[in-house]
Amino acid sequence: MKKTINTFKEAKKNGEKVTMLTAYDYSTAKLEEEAGVDSILVGDSLGNVMLGYEDTVSVTMEDMIHHCKAVSRGAKNTLVVCDMPFMSYQTSPYDAVVNAGRLMKEGRANAVKLEGGIIIKDAVKNIVDASIPVCGHLGLTPQSINAFGGYKVQGKSLDAAKKLIEDAYTLQEAGVFALVLECVPEKLASFITSKLDITTIGIGAGNGCDGQVLVYADMLSMFSDYCPKFVKQFANVGEVMKSGFEGYINSVKNASYPAVEHTYKIDDEVMEKIIDAYK
Ligand code: KIV
Repeated sequence: MKKTINTFKEAKKNGEKVTMLTAYDYSTAKLEEEAGVDSILVGDSLGNVMLGYEDTVSVTMEDMIHHCKAVSRGAKNTLVVCDMPFMSYQTSPYDAVVNAGRLMKEGRANAVKLEGGIIIKDAVKNIVDASIPVCGHLGLTPQSINAFGGYKVQGKSLDAAKKLIEDAYTLQEAGVFALVLECVPEKLASFITSKLDITTIGIGAGNGCDGQVLVYADMLSMFSDYCPKFVKQFANVGEVMKSGFEGYINSVKNASYPAVEHTYKIDDEVMEKIIDAYK
């Protein structure tokens, strides 16, 4: 059965944790679905992980649609949430609805995710009114990296924590079905979770959230540019890939690959005629 936003609502009601992982392509999405993940996020972290940018600021609507299409083809029974990239919703609620609509119609997403609080309230409301489920994102919101001046834990002071709480309430009121909390102190994230009816999904926000999300390339040790403190590396796929690549290179160089079992045959008689014809 297809996992939907109701899967999140049911899980919150029953006190069960939800899982979300990023994916950016068909094969990874398929593997994640087979593993049983509840939701796949086509994150704009694809800017870092797939495209090699320093941050997510340069990611475009076309990038998001392209990757979201591939993910939704690979994960037909999983809730696919697609990030709205920088400047696709900040400019006006009208732009927000048009671009959210494109992610649904062209990308075949099941929901969209936006970064920010009170400031994007109208955009969120308008998208929700267009029957598009919205996931919020508070705390460290990477699209605001230039305004933050670096990747730092958010909500540590009394004022910052109060602002985060007010933003969370505002987003809930605007109609989001879930809220990502990124790089927020564990006690504050747990407190927000206990106050909200919607599902909170933590990333660097401790164990008190209703669910967790990680960038798959981080938790499989495939992305080696940096690794945040909150990431647990569940497998060393980067090393496995590298050793596979080395094995291939060595086998080609020493001519042990391809072997007989990897080759196609031709009738000896046909081959002799070819040789004769080209004498
Ligand atoms: O883009 C992304 O991958 C995200 C997660 C880190 C939550 O927004």
